[in-house]
Amino acid sequence: MTDLIAFVGGGNMATSLIGGLIARGVPPSQIVVADPEPSQRARLEHDHGVTTVADAPSAVTSAQTVVLAVKPQQMAQVARSIAGLVAVRRPLVISVAAGIRLQDLARWLGPGVPLVRTMPNRPALIGAGITALYAAPDVDAPSRAAADRILAACGPTVWVPEEAQLDVVTAVSGSGPAYVFLLIECLEAAGIELGLDPATARQLAVETARGAGRMAAEATDPPAELRAQVTSKGGTTAAALEVLEAAGVRAIFAAAVAAGARRSTELAHEFGTL
Ligand SMILES: NC(=O)c1ccc[n+]([C@@H]2O[C@H](COP(=O)([O-])OP(=O)(O)OC[C@H]3O[C@@H](n4cnc5c(N)ncnc54)[C@H](OP(=O)(O)O)[C@@H]3O)[C@@H](O)[C@H]2O)c1
Repeated sequence: MTDLIAFVGGGNMATSLIGGLIARGVPPSQIVVADPEPSQRARLEHDHGVTTVADAPSAVTSAQTVVLAVKPQQMAQVARSIAGLVAVRRPLVISVAAGIRLQDLARWLGPGVPLVRTMPNRPALIGAGITALYAAPDVDAPSRAAADRILAACGPTVWVPEEAQLDVVTAVSGSGPAYVFLLIECLEAAGIELGLDPATARQLAVETARGAGRMAAEATDPPAELRAQVTSKGGTTAAALEVLEAAGVRAIFAAAVAAGARRSTELAHEFGTL
């Protein structure tokens, strides 16, 4: 990649992507970051050696790719502030913001700009994220590949065929780390309740989540098969799983993810009217 990449917003998500890109060989001189917060800029310059500027238009001026990494509620104002430059140069614009629809971005930025919308997740911070991407049909293959390379800096990428699916992605993998943290909390609390000391209960719960996650990622068998393999008839795991199934754990997860997806749709409408 030889093009200049401009990040607008230098917070958590931008920092994760910048760290991943540099680790993959992108020279810091090819990255410029706009963020109004001086301490944020100083940190990025010190930790990653990238160029920083205080305002979005200065970063976007000569960039071939622009990554919009501000909060969703900041997006309308930020996009409008660079619309004039973007209209002239037509860089590839990638949004990592939750709940910002391409139609709204296009309205704020102006027509004819290649746009890719993405949904990364929190473990991107440690290079263990997963990102779903969507681009409108008129975005060409080189632009899609460029967006993919940038998001792949923090973990695997998947493309979805319809933008509406990003609401589902948000509820599955965007919010998903919180469900796994909740599971860890529950295991830890149950262990303490039954007599384990807190540190031991925490370690057992965390390492179990890590180990099971790695096995699910590395195994060729599907998760249901892996579960069956640790569930002997009449055994301890079977006794525990019976309680979960009887409580309707599958229906609870289905309802939870549906609620998350619904909320994502609502947010898209709220942010889109800013
Ligand atoms: N973090 C995650 O796990 C995650 C996961 C999926 C998607 N995302 C998406 O990623 C985006 C960024 O999230 P984040 O967690 O990185 O947020 P963040 O840490 O708050 O970073 C956003 C940064 O943008 C700066 N900013 C505000 N207005 C600006 C402007 N006009 N020009 C340039 N920079 C500006 C903010 O500065 P101030 O603090 O001074 O306002 C802040 O430093 C969000 O839209 C979020 O939906 C994040």
